[in-house]
Amino acid sequence: MVTIASFSPEVLSQACELLSSGDVVAIPTETVYGLAADATNDKAVAKIYAIKQRPEFNPLIIHCHSAQQAKSYVQFDKRAEKLADAFWPGPITFVLKRYPDSAISFLASSGLETLAVRIPAHPVAQALIKAYSKPLAAPSANLSQTISPTSAIDVQASLGNRVPLIIDGGQTRVGVESTIIDLTEAIPHILRPGGISVEQIQAVIGTVDLSRRAGIKAPGMMARHYAPSVPMRLNAAAPLKGELFLGFGSMDCDYNLSPSGNLEEAAANLFRMMRLMDRQNIAGIAVAPIPKHGLGLAINDRLMRAATREE
Ligand code: TXA
Ligand code: MG
Repeated sequence: MVTIASFSPEVLSQACELLSSGDVVAIPTETVYGLAADATNDKAVAKIYAIKQRPEFNPLIIHCHSAQQAKSYVQFDKRAEKLADAFWPGPITFVLKRYPDSAISFLASSGLETLAVRIPAHPVAQALIKAYSKPLAAPSANLSQTISPTSAIDVQASLGNRVPLIIDGGQTRVGVESTIIDLTEAIPHILRPGGISVEQIQAVIGTVDLSRRAGIKAPGMMARHYAPSVPMRLNAAAPLKGELFLGFGSMDCDYNLSPSGNLEEAAANLFRMMRLMDRQNIAGIAVAPIPKHGLGLAINDRLMRAATREE
C-alpha cells in the first residue's frame, strides 16, 4: 500500500530509509512531483525506469541541494555560474560535462558524458536532499508518456501502488517542468522550454539557441508526451461537438488556464486541467491559442507534444 503523508520529521527519516535501501519516494518540487531515488545507486535508478515504464535511453535529472553539491559532479563554467546565481534554487536544469570519476550512476545519465543537474526550490525537496546528503535522480512521478503530476493525488492516480511513499507538498507552484539548457557547447541550447523563460535566460547570458529543442541531445524529448487519452486540437477558435474547450484569457470555455491572461497562472493550471478533462467522457479537447512568449513557450511545447498522436 502506498502511504501519502504530509511532511514531518518522521516522514523525512522514513524517506531517507527508503532511499538508502534503494527504494523510491515520490516528492513535491516547485515544478511537478518527482519520482526520486539515490542517484548514485544503479539499482535504485533502474527501479525508477521500471516503475515509470520509461525507455532506458532517456536520461534523468540529478537533483542537488546546493550549487556547491552540483559542482562536485559536473564541470561549471561562467555561464552556469551566472545562471545558478540568477535562478537556483528554481525551475532550470543545466546539462554540463560530468566529471569522469563522479559517483552518479551512469544509468541515470544513460551512459552520456554529460549530466543534467538542478536545485529544486520546494522546501520539501530541499529538506530531503539535504538530509539524505546524496543527490536524487527524479523524473516526473507518472507513467511514461502521460501527463506530469502537480499534486500528490495525481501521483497516486498514475503510480498508485508502485511507490511506497508519496510526500504531499500541495499543488505545485510552477506547474510545468524545469527549463533544460545545454551548456556543453559554445552556444547554449534550450533543450526543453520550462519554468524559467527564454527571455529571463537571455537577460543573464545573452543569446541562446532554440533550434535543438525536441532534439538529438535529449533523446527523451519524444514528440508524444504528456498525452491525454483523447485527441487534442490546438489553436482552436471554438470547440466542435463533443469537445471540451480549454481557454485562455477572457472567453467562454469549459476550463480556463487563466481568465486574466496570465501565462504563469496558465502554466500552473495546465497539467491539472488536462487531467480533469481527460477524466471525462469526451470526444476530444480543443485548446484556444496561447501566446508564444514567456512561459507561453513551455505551455505551447507541452500542448504540441500532447496533441501528437503518432510515435
Ligand atoms: O521539473 C523537472 O525538471 C522535473 C522535476 C521532477 O524536477 N523533472 C523532470 O524530469 O522533468 P524528466 O526525467 O521527466 O525529464 C528529464 C529530461 C528528459 O527529457 C531527458 O532527456 C533530459 O531531461 N536529460 C536528462 N539528462 C540529460 C543529458 N545529460 N543531456 C540531455 N538531456 C538530458
Ligand atoms: Mg516527465
